[in-house]
Amino acid sequence: MADPFIITDKLTYSYDDDEGNPSKIPALLNVSIQINEGEYVAVLGHNGSGKSTFAKLLNMILEPTFGRIIIDGTDLSSDDITEDDIYELRRRVGMVFQNPDNQLVATIVEEDVAFGPENLGIPSDEIRKRVDDALATVGISEYAKHEPHRLSGGQKQRVAIAGILAMQPKCMIFDESTAMLDPVGRREVLDTIKRLNKEQNITVINITHYMEEAVLADRVIVINDGEILIDGTPAEVFSKPDLLRSVGLAVPQCTDLIQRLRAKGIKLEGDDITDLEACADMICEAFAERQA
Ligand SMILES: Nc1ncnc2c1ncn2[C@@H]1O[C@H](COP(=O)(O)OP(=O)(O)O)[C@@H](O)[C@H]1O
Ligand SMILES: [Mg+2]
Repeated sequence: MADPFIITDKLTYSYDDDEGNPSKIPALLNVSIQINEGEYVAVLGHNGSGKSTFAKLLNMILEPTFGRIIIDGTDLSSDDITEDDIYELRRRVGMVFQNPDNQLVATIVEEDVAFGPENLGIPSDEIRKRVDDALATVGISEYAKHEPHRLSGGQKQRVAIAGILAMQPKCMIFDESTAMLDPVGRREVLDTIKRLNKEQNITVINITHYMEEAVLADRVIVINDGEILIDGTPAEVFSKPDLLRSVGLAVPQCTDLIQRLRAKGIKLEGDDITDLEACADMICEAFAERQA
């Protein structure tokens, strides 16, 4: 059994209202979860449901209004936690945001990737190695000397990921990191995320509103109005299409098609959660049986 990496207990956050008092409607309310080392979790929710607030609390950009967060064994609410502890924990939890252009700081790709470890005071030969490894991991090595602003969205986002990788995080949070990308860029980033999780055992939290992305995770947490609505495997979560629709979400298209065909009495063997190929196979099988 893997160790817990993130534990939250009744985690609650209210932004300040116009008078500077904590708003009576919290952006996040009583979120108690455990995410283990090496897990790949998708967080789903409609706009304004509290996903980014959750991410910022886990990355220590925001401080809880109420409740506790324990990261990698350190309780953030403990009295004897130091600035250095927070700095070190931030290194262990990397965050990739939505807009790749806002995350790149240097004019050459490899300098951008070196920026984080340079700030950590890492020796330069070690930085060289980390930058090369990180660029190779995200598949960008051939662009090391290029100018980031000339790259595609997917490539830029992979440079941003490499910059975090070079700080050797244990967990990475992606806050709608594919939302501004074209389908090719999205695919590149999703493949990279999967590789980080499977090959380097990096704990992944992928915040998204694409159902097709959520299916790729081992676990899906649905947030609605700041509270956890469902927490389960993709199969468990997407077997509740009516509940999802009631909070402004849908199920992946293939799942929707399978569920609709079943509702019309067509017998389809297998899981609801399926990719395009498996979906086509299921339907072909059903047709073949009908014609036989
Ligand atoms: N800086 C802010 N000040 C006040 N309210 C905010 C701020 N950021 C977000 N909110 C509010 O908090 C709620 C959750 O927002 P957010 O966490 O950004 O949701 P999501 O990422 O799911 O779209 C929303 O009602 C939003 O309007
Ligand atoms: Mg958001």
